[in-house]
Formats: sequence, C-alpha cells, structure tokens
Amino acid sequence: MKYRRSPIENESPELLGYDTIKYNLSESSITDLRLGDLGGLPNDLVLMYGNHYGKPELRALIASESPNLSSGDVLLTPGAAAALFMLHTVLLEAGDHIVVAYPNYATNLETPRMLGAQVDMLPLRFENQFQPDFAELERLMTPHTKLISLTTPHNPTGSRLSLGQLRDVIALSERTGCHVLLDETYRDMVVGDELPLGASLHPRVISISSMSKSYGLPGIRVGWVICQDAALMEGLLAAKEQILISGSMIDEELCHRALLQRATRLPTIRARLTAQLAVVRSWIATEPRMEWVEPRGGCVCFPRIKTGVNVNINVFYDALLSEFGTYVGAGHWFEMDRRYMRIGYGWPTPEALVAGLLGISHALDVAVN
Ligand SMILES: Cc1ncc(COP(=O)(O)O)c(C=O)c1O
Repeated sequence: MKYRRSPIENESPELLGYDTIKYNLSESSITDLRLGDLGGLPNDLVLMYGNHYGKPELRALIASESPNLSSGDVLLTPGAAAALFMLHTVLLEAGDHIVVAYPNYATNLETPRMLGAQVDMLPLRFENQFQPDFAELERLMTPHTKLISLTTPHNPTGSRLSLGQLRDVIALSERTGCHVLLDETYRDMVVGDELPLGASLHPRVISISSMSKSYGLPGIRVGWVICQDAALMEGLLAAKEQILISGSMIDEELCHRALLQRATRLPTIRARLTAQLAVVRSWIATEPRMEWVEPRGGCVCFPRIKTGVNVNINVFYDALLSEFGTYVGAGHWFEMDRRYMRIGYGWPTPEALVAGLLGISHALDVAVN
C-alpha cells in the first residue's frame, strides 16, 4: 500500500511547533489534560500484554451506556484513527464502493482511497447548513456499496445528524445490505438532543470514538469500535492483533479513570463549550467579511470569507500567523477552498480565543483589497 501524508498532519501544530503559535485556534479538542488531572498511575500496574480486545472493565463501562450492548461489542484501539483505519481494511477491497461525507477528517477519505475503493463523496454544503442530502445519498448508492461513512457531530463543520436522519440511513443500509460507519469522536460535546450510540440501534452500524476530543486526552491514544456484528468484530480483532497484539496497559488504565469521571467532567466541558461558542458568535456578528453555519455540536466551526470579498488568500494566511500569531485549520486541510477555515473554539483559553478571532479580522484588513 502507498501511504500519503495529508496537509492536516504535515501542517499540524504539533509538527509546526506550539512555540511558534500565540493563539492556537487550529485544535479540534477541548484543552488537553495533564497526567495529574487523572490522579496519576498505580505503582502496581502490571505492564503485561493486555486483553487483546482491551481492558474488560473499560469495555463494559463503554457498553453500559446502552442495554442493547455488551462488552463483547467493544474493541479498544489506539485512538479513533486506528479504529477507522482497521475498519476500512476489514470492510473494503479494491473496487468496492463507499459513500463518504465530504469534507471530512483525512483518514475517512484517505484510507478507502488507498485501498483502491471507489469513493463517492456526499457533499455537505454550506448552503444546506452542512447537512447531507439523503436523495443524493440514495442516488450515489450502487449494488457494490459496502459502506456509508458519516460523522456526527461533524468535523470540520460542527453539523449534526438527527435521530430521524440516522434511522433513515439505517433503513437504507438494511435495504441495500451495506454497513454504516458513524464516526462519533465528538459525540460527548453536544448540548441537548443527544443521540443514542449508533451501534446500539442496529448491527449494521459501527460506532467509532475516542478519548481525544471531548476529554482532552489525545496523548493516551485510546479509542474504540462498537458494533453488534460478531463476524465484523472478529475481523477487527484479527486486524488489531496483526498490527499491535494488544493496547497499552497504561493508556487503558488512564482512559478507564477518565471515563469513570464522565458524569462529573462533562457538565463543565459543555458549559465551557457553550461559553466559548458565544464568543465566536459575537465576533462573527461584528465581522462583515465572514459568514458561518453555526455549529450544533463538537468544538469546531467552519466559517468562510464571503464570496464577494476580494481577498489575497495567501497573504491572509501568512499575515495571520506571522503578524498576528494566530493559527487556524485552513480549508485545504479538508480538501476545500482556502476561504473556508476551521476554528477550534474549545481548546484555547477564553483570552486566546478572543485574541485569535481579532487576529483573523486584522489579517483580513491586511489581505482584503
Ligand atoms: C472525525 C474524527 N475522527 C477521528 C479522529 C482521530 O482521533 P483520535 O485518533 O485522536 O481518536 C479525528 C481527529 O481529528 C477526527 O476529527
């Protein structure tokens, strides 16, 4: 297989250097936690190969959210990224057809392409509030469609599926015999109308998530796949065993601790997201050169510079970082026009968020004729 690096990785703040960015609005998680926030690690933790599926108590805790699920439906992986990679390799062969929401997180597009799958994009358009058009989805389906790939809440737009939409996709998958991948990595960052775990609704749905975004723990590399299809889970276990045998005992221990605190942590996280989103809303209201679709979940939004605005886009991004110390996820990270930019409002401090948004306005002053 030929691997190809994506701009979102190549230009990531961790490779660019955090010390080169003053106002980091490019992150897609809440602020990262520290080891001490989780109470440290027990000295007697045995550093053996772990259970190949992942720590049993942790899998049981993840499954306990729905009476339809058991720990056998949960496989731990090193982050959602690995889960997505494994899932695509298990489900798809060269020539198989997949319909995937676009724009999207790079792995969801790159892995099926790399496997030689026939990839049809289901566009999420600004004009349609970044919502999928289900008539279009039905038209894209073929007898060879193996997978429909959706993300909710969505990265980079912050749009969300309703329960009704999810049920419609499940009905479509039943009719056509394909699976539905639901990337739920941002699931816990929703205020009101929370969806049930997709995988709890039907054996054809595969839920993928992790600790990276809602819990600020991308450094422990723990994610998971949830699915009630035992044959598919067996394939995923085989993939995991070929790649890494089992997960890190340390990472799984820390993940377990953090998830046990879910009920106490989430209200604070959600309150912070609501407050920081209000800051972005106020800025957009006073910035006539930008427009957005307000996000309904997650911690990112995907505004754009209005079409009528005559901007030199290279000058804009250069000035944004070099003069105003502000970094955002430029549209090309998502194979989109660079007039779009992903703004992560959950990670920066409130002061850095305000300063970074002002930086965008100042860079527009420099780059707009
Ligand atoms: C939609 C989506 N899925 C999966 C991932 C991978 O996250 P991780 O591997 O850190 O769990 C990301 C990261 O940005 C993402 O945005």
